[in-house]
Amino acid sequence: MIEVRHLKKTFHEGGKEIKAADDISLTIPDGEFISIIGRSGSGKSTLLNMIGGLDRCDEGEIIVNGKNLSSLNSDQLAEYRSSETGFVFQAFHLETGYSVYDNIRVALLIAGVPFKEHKHRVNLALEQVDLPDKMRVRTAKLSGGEKQRTAIARALINDPKIILADEPCGNLDSENSDRILRLLEKLHRSGKTVVLVTHNRADANRAQRIIELSDGVVIRDEQTGSFVAEP
Ligand SMILES: Nc1ncnc2c1ncn2[C@@H]1O[C@H](COP(=O)(O)OP(=O)(O)OP(=O)(O)O)[C@@H](O)[C@H]1O
Ligand SMILES: [Mg+2]
Repeated sequence: MIEVRHLKKTFHEGGKEIKAADDISLTIPDGEFISIIGRSGSGKSTLLNMIGGLDRCDEGEIIVNGKNLSSLNSDQLAEYRSSETGFVFQAFHLETGYSVYDNIRVALLIAGVPFKEHKHRVNLALEQVDLPDKMRVRTAKLSGGEKQRTAIARALINDPKIILADEPCGNLDSENSDRILRLLEKLHRSGKTVVLVTHNRADANRAQRIIELSDGVVIRDEQTGSFVAEP
């Protein structure tokens, strides 16, 4: 479970104060598929980054699976990022000079997984994202959709319970976007918590619940109704 309590984050830019998170509270139960929408600058990435332990809050708290992220030191926070969450970014964040294998393997190295398990684990992750034949290809040579599937494989490699995706379809055409969304839906069906940041309302509607942010405040929090559970 992800519990966000009275979360605040203020940036100071050019003498101005920007309240990117202004007293946000919300609870995301285990296994929920939730979208976060809102205009550019409304605070979506700020919130996701704090949930994912990429950034720290100024006030309030985030408790994930019973752990208060503010109370973790930087090593513990790195361990949390590596083992409990998988982060997917709009711009993929791949090392384009390296192969698919090496990009995904980084997450195993960080997690201290024994070398002899790497090939098998990377293979399994690539099967999950339907990219089995690309292991030795440099990521510079992949299509946008393949790059994002590689990034998702990297996010999945340590089998985190939580997938955090910040505009994962922002650089993709509609066909590849649909493929990524179907992958997120599959991960949700397999029991993972999925938090999707998007400015596309149709994409957002594929989740069970939508949160809308405006100026760092939650202005809407509702079930979509469009979600049909698998039998
Ligand atoms: N590191 C930073 N330094 C200063 N201001 C920042 C920083 N990060 C975010 N902000 C500001 O905080 C506000 C929220 O930013 P955030 O990136 O969370 O918005 P967003 O909803 O993700 O927008 P977008 O849809 O464009 O990605 C914006 O006004 C932004 O300019
Ligand atoms: Mg953003």
